[in-house]
Amino acid sequence: CLWVRNLRLKRRLPGPFAWPVVGNAMQLGQMPHITFARLAKKYGNVYQIRLGCSDIVVLNGDRVIRQALIQHSTEFAGRPNFVSFQAVSGGKSMTFTNYGKQWKMHRKIAQSTIRAFSSANSQTKKAFEQQIVAEATELVEIFLKLSSQGQYFNPAHELTVAAANVICALCFGKRYGHDDVEFRALLERVDQFGQTVGAGSLVDVMPWLQSFPNPVRSVFKNFKDLNKEFFGFIQNKVKEHRETFNPEVTRDMSDAFIGVIDKADTDNGLTKGHTEGTVSDLIGAGLDTVSTALHWIVLLLAKHPETQTKLHELIDKVVGPDRLPSIEDRSNLAYLDAFIYETMRFTSFVPVTIPHSTTSDVTVDGLNIPKDTVVFINQWSVNHDPLKWKDPHVFEPSRFLDENGSLDKDLTNNVMIFSAGKRRCIGDQIAKVEIFLFFAILLHQCSFEKCPSEDLSLNCSYGLTLKPLDYKITAKLRGELPKSQ
Ligand code: HEM
Repeated sequence: CLWVRNLRLKRRLPGPFAWPVVGNAMQLGQMPHITFARLAKKYGNVYQIRLGCSDIVVLNGDRVIRQALIQHSTEFAGRPNFVSFQAVSGGKSMTFTNYGKQWKMHRKIAQSTIRAFSSANSQTKKAFEQQIVAEATELVEIFLKLSSQGQYFNPAHELTVAAANVICALCFGKRYGHDDVEFRALLERVDQFGQTVGAGSLVDVMPWLQSFPNPVRSVFKNFKDLNKEFFGFIQNKVKEHRETFNPEVTRDMSDAFIGVIDKADTDNGLTKGHTEGTVSDLIGAGLDTVSTALHWIVLLLAKHPETQTKLHELIDKVVGPDRLPSIEDRSNLAYLDAFIYETMRFTSFVPVTIPHSTTSDVTVDGLNIPKDTVVFINQWSVNHDPLKWKDPHVFEPSRFLDENGSLDKDLTNNVMIFSAGKRRCIGDQIAKVEIFLFFAILLHQCSFEKCPSEDLSLNCSYGLTLKPLDYKITAKLRGELPKSQ
């Protein structure tokens, strides 16, 4: 029973003293991942905290996290039964569903559909890349417009629309204008999603907070409303697809999911609602993460002008002024990938994964963790582990280059931002292609400068993703835009 389980957890794992009712909730601070890493210095890399009525195990450091997620991949593949998780994707989410036969099937379908539309063959690869190139060139034009007469602007919203358009084009075969008011409003709402599902959010661990007026309850109400609104948008789009569905022609990923999930005659446990659930999962996951990566890249470019100059010199040498960079240039642009990996490592902008839970009793680093324990996985601590990284707190892209200037694959594999094991992100490959192409095209076309009177701050807001606080830059055109390829 729960009481015996908690007793076993209490006996076996080290951790800070937990106060009655709130547990350690008041000690998490503004940046829980930093607090978790600090507690690891005192209690070891596997320890227990208490948040409200939940005992939670926190895993830290490269060795322990890989041991858990890779060697014990099945034991750590669960998701907790949080109330907030049930509000996502109409309750038919793959991402927020516990480990089991149905989840495995659902994940397989999502994974193979992503592959079919991004990398299955040279044609789909090209189509996917062209979509990104189109978004990136439009982004350049908008940035330059917003920078006219040397004005400074906040690039956040335009980057979000550009990233959202790539995933919307894959799912719906449709993109939206940067000035589409409804789409802008929807994206602004989705921006708040990660505040509730990020590790350390309180409503899931203190469900009684829902029963009287308080700030956590209003955040949760807002969370439920925004999920409803976002899911309503997805439902409408899938409905339009169902009405015009032709089994002979798969126009986009929505059609593919309708074909596989709606029309399946096998009893895989998935129902029609899972079609919308899957599309909603992919759009949600694909827009917030990729756009956050791009926010940080633009900020760090403007913050490190000497690095930006080196990147410009390289891209001019490899690509030249007469064409746009393409994915084929990637192996000759190792310094760009090094900059991307260092951005992911240094900012660790998904600092803690979506919460996991254990699917059976398991031992990590000699410590026993019972079945159904909530587990927080501190990716930030992997990327700042002093046993793995020299000067982890310094932003130094060249750490990823070997003596020949090539990308050091052993080192890039040590960066953890897409998690690992059975719950590893299924969009990692498309995300890397997107980030590389957006970055290469922005860099090829523009130089980015910060406002001389302001220092660009690395401060950020905490949630499932760490987002930079509002900042302003200006973009300058480096040469004439080449005609589209
Ligand atoms: C899960 C990171 C882009 C789809 C995750 C998780 C992380 C992550 C940390 C949680 C893993 C865990 O709980 O252990 C990222 C980052 C991205 C990115 C850093 C971009 C830079 C994408 C894209 C898509 C996507 C573009 C899809 C189009 C998913 C899905 C899951 C997931 C469906 C849930 C997997 C599951 O629970 O089985 N991602 N992601 N992600 N990601 Fe991504």
